Amino acid sequence: MFQRLRDIRQPVRLTIDGEAVTADAGDSVMAAILASGIASFRRTPQSGAERGPYCGMGVCFDCLVTIDGRGNRQACLAVVREGMVVESGGARPAIGGP
Ligand code: FES
Repeated sequence: MFQRLRDIRQPVRLTIDGEAVTADAGDSVMAAILASGIASFRRTPQSGAERGPYCGMGVCFDCLVTIDGRGNRQACLAVVREGMVVESGGARPAIGGP
């Protein structure tokens, strides 16, 4: 579905859902996830519907993932970092939720 438009120039190694992935320095986490073949980033707490990035600019919150153990991070606004650990399904329900 998604593919890189150019080769990786400055490789950055990270882990996405337990898989070692190489991204390019400056890539957003969203780009790295999509390039790894994952399109569903999380499921909604209410219905369990799959969600993926929509706006790509920090507005829709449909790209929430867990980054280095911190949930509810917007993948479209985070930049990849060497050794970063990313987990899809990052949406955590609000306080008092399931
Ligand atoms: S894709 Fe919309 S906030 Fe990240």
